[in-house]
Amino acid sequence: MSDRYISIEGISRSYPAPGGGSTTVFEDLWLSMARGEFVAVIGHSGCGKTTVLNILAGLDAPSSGVVIVDVKAIEGPSLDRAVIFQSHALMPWKSALGNVAYAVASKWPRRSRGEIEGKARQAIELVGLGPAADRKPAQLSGGMKQRVGIARALSIDPKILLMDEPFSALDALTRGTLQDEVRKICIETGQTVFMITHDVDEAIYLADKIVLMTNGPGARIAEIVVNPLPQGRTRNDVHRHPAYYPLRNHIIDFLVSRSKAFDSEIAGKSWDPRHPPHVNPAQPERSPLHPVRMPQASESEASSRDFPEAQRRTAL
Ligand SMILES: Nc1ncnc2c1ncn2[C@@H]1O[C@H](COP(=O)(O)OP(=O)(O)OP(=O)(O)O)[C@@H](O)[C@H]1O
Ligand SMILES: [Mg+2]
Repeated sequence: MSDRYISIEGISRSYPAPGGGSTTVFEDLWLSMARGEFVAVIGHSGCGKTTVLNILAGLDAPSSGVVIVDVKAIEGPSLDRAVIFQSHALMPWKSALGNVAYAVASKWPRRSRGEIEGKARQAIELVGLGPAADRKPAQLSGGMKQRVGIARALSIDPKILLMDEPFSALDALTRGTLQDEVRKICIETGQTVFMITHDVDEAIYLADKIVLMTNGPGARIAEIVVNPLPQGRTRNDVHRHPAYYPLRNHIIDFLVSRSKAFDSEIAGKSWDPRHPPHVNPAQPERSPLHPVRMPQASESEASSRDFPEAQRRTAL
């Protein structure tokens, strides 16, 4: 399996500026993702996170650069890439099951009605909505609607799951439960995920890698934080791990100060946007401006799924 299953290659996005000329929201972004990897993106409002996600979804196009998914350049929307919206975006006249079945039928139009319904029901069960499968969106709570959105996205076996702040509109209790479920499902199914969040703890709990974006305009990927917490982490023990606070503090320091002063941070230093540094904050002796050797594809998959924590850190 390739460690470049998804490859963002030098993308920039500009819009016409009100007074003439143009504004570059972000520029020269490079990022690759391995199959089965969970990547979270964190950055201040307006740095272009949603625009990047829309480009990955094929709903927007970069002004320059290209995105490759499984050796094919993105040229528009595709049912290979599923988006989970913050606003649910369900069809109000269809039941929970009907909403999911609609997606399944769009992906596999030749399948029989029974096959489509079976596949849709499987996805509805996966997110724990079996008993509410026949209810319309208006009869569902916010968390249940979001579950339908997750079931719909997973039902089409996407190559990548794209999530734009998927839990931000939910109450804390529902948010936690859904995070637990999404994490469990993604690990069990080996789903590749690209998620935007403003919630540092959500990123730490869910993601294998956390991409830190600087402030716009002209935003960049400053670094890629490699999550040193063990794959078997749980909500109850994650904050007790010795690497948790170094990791959390590193991300918060970035958001509070480094994200807006990044250009001066790298002034006079060698900086290659094609290879944003991979940083493990649990190893503070490593400078963020000196890339850490990342394991190759086979090592990477093994380290994130199977290795005990000590071995995984050695691999980094
Ligand atoms: N169609 C457009 N025309 C002009 N500017 C746009 C357009 N779409 C987005 N922008 C600008 O691009 C920038 C990035 O927008 P984007 O929605 O990607 O930010 P974001 O990082 O997702 O922010 P947030 O965290 O608030 O969701 C913003 O400054 C926005 O005003
Ligand atoms: Mg956004």
